[in-house]
Amino acid sequence: MEIRLAGPADHDAWLSLWNRYCTDQGVGISTEVSETIWQRIEKPDNTSKALVAVDAGGVTLAFLNYIVHPYTWSDRQLCFVVDLYVDQSWRRRGIAQAMIAHLAAEGHRQRWLRLYWNTDRSNERARALYDKIARLSPYLSYFLDL
Ligand SMILES: CC(C)(COP(=O)(O)OP(=O)(O)OC[C@H]1O[C@@H](n2cnc3c(N)ncnc32)[C@H](O)[C@@H]1OP(=O)(O)O)[C@@H](O)C(=O)NCCC(=O)NCCS
Repeated sequence: MEIRLAGPADHDAWLSLWNRYCTDQGVGISTEVSETIWQRIEKPDNTSKALVAVDAGGVTLAFLNYIVHPYTWSDRQLCFVVDLYVDQSWRRRGIAQAMIAHLAAEGHRQRWLRLYWNTDRSNERARALYDKIARLSPYLSYFLDL
């Protein structure tokens, strides 16, 4: 399996997994918005990026979308892991953990301060993974919807 940055050729595979992820998360995102998200990811100069995990036969097994952005408590950047999804039949093989480790290695090279992410309190699968590899933030998230 190879983990690498997604590029234009990954559109169809990313979209197929993305649609399954949105269903899994219970969010209805229109085709138009999904295409806009992808266009941001595939542009090399954009801050939205994605990693994909691809097997030896070229089948895409997982994706991880992330955004790198500046921070005010440091001159180093933060990396927000926005979405992570592993194809159902490929779970519990260490793919998600490997993708986060891959991103962390990139973060070390780029001198980011940290990776961070949110997860639903009830997402026990994800929390089991996150509790193993990261520390729980002392902060709560608040939303003011616009
Ligand atoms: C959460 C998710 C990304 C995990 O992907 P994965 O590739 O199966 O995770 P890994 O194989 O790397 O898991 C590593 C460790 O995390 C823990 N873990 C992962 N899934 C688990 C589960 N279903 N139950 C208990 N522990 C789990 C285990 O400790 C596991 O190690 P082990 O298999 O050696 O015991 C995957 O289940 C998924 O895509 N879920 C749907 C989308 C989602 O919820 N994404 C996260 C949104 S924040």
